[in-house]
Amino acid sequence: MRKLTVNLGRRSYDIVIGYKVLPEFGRLLRKLKIGSDAVVVTNPYIRKLYGDRLENSLKEEGFSVRFEEVPDSKTSKSDKMCLNLIKRIALYDEQRTLFIIAFGGGVIGDLAGFLASIYKRGIPYVQLPTTLLAQVDSGIGGKVGIDWTYGKNLIGAFYQPKVVFSDISLLKSLNLRQLRSGLAEVIKYGIIQDEGLFRYIEKRYLGILKLNENDLLHIVLASSKIKAHIVQKDERDTEGKRMLLNLGHTIGHAIEAATKYTLYSHGEAIAIGTVCAAQIAKILRLLSPDSFQRIENLILKVGLPVKIQNVKLTEILKAQLHDKKFIGRKNRFVLQFIGRKNRFVLPVGIGKAEVRENVPLEMVKKVIKSRLECT
Ligand code: GLY
Repeated sequence: MRKLTVNLGRRSYDIVIGYKVLPEFGRLLRKLKIGSDAVVVTNPYIRKLYGDRLENSLKEEGFSVRFEEVPDSKTSKSDKMCLNLIKRIALYDEQRTLFIIAFGGGVIGDLAGFLASIYKRGIPYVQLPTTLLAQVDSGIGGKVGIDWTYGKNLIGAFYQPKVVFSDISLLKSLNLRQLRSGLAEVIKYGIIQDEGLFRYIEKRYLGILKLNENDLLHIVLASSKIKAHIVQKDERDTEGKRMLLNLGHTIGHAIEAATKYTLYSHGEAIAIGTVCAAQIAKILRLLSPDSFQRIENLILKVGLPVKIQNVKLTEILKAQLHDKKFIGRKNRFVLQFIGRKNRFVLPVGIGKAEVRENVPLEMVKKVIKSRLECT
């Protein structure tokens, strides 16, 4: 079992990573002294697969356990679902010392973490991520929230978990598409900060896709280290350092929004957004043609898309104008975007990235256009 620490003073916590370590989870929680009554927020699929194992581990250490299921869907990250869960938990609560276990992927982690942040002005919660994406990214760093009619993650908080417990063996239940989606974020870490990790994926992508234990351990550990380091330096995303984690997200989010979150998984959209950002960096001569090619090749090799299908340029640009990274009132967004004020994370090598503002709109359009594929 490997342990990393996210150093945030009184809000510090460990990321524990291992293979088949779920039986140890109860013992670890007992040491944390975070309460005696666990409310496990999960979906029916994960509960069916791993619920008994988790329950045994908790009960052996004397915890009471209650499962709260939410549907396995992006739409579960809603105000309605959150309030409904709070009602169910409040009815159960009487005299208990509750804490929340977010047992699932990114949707569960964000929803359960957010509910923990507001219920009784905050109760402890832990992340027990079951997807690669949640183990390497969304489970770490305390960004929690729900979606609302007016925007994704519009209602949220910075609320750190008490521990992140990543059991690599749980990733065996992922299908290839889910695995690739998480891999997009791992490639992102390689590009922004760690050429060694990037090279590792170039060499070992077949092993990773076959869920080889050592390969998964390697990439989850390396990614978690980078994420922990960045969160330590810029917990509340105000110093421009955490912003680097948004490589590929400017155009990626726009593609997701333009397709109403149905056509592409988050990782697939981010993969396309990453190639677009690398292409912009190449045009701006910030990134060498060779490095650009390595990025595009790796994304292709792992089976992620580098082309956009069935979406129009105008739809992507419109969605981009509404991205919350464009600060200001809506009608001013348009002027700012068309005028000067967009912001991109651009790779300037493999292992290094920078935030750039004011990328010419014509260049952004040209790059997106070159990625469009009509079917
Ligand atoms: N996933 C981006 C962040 O945690 O800041």
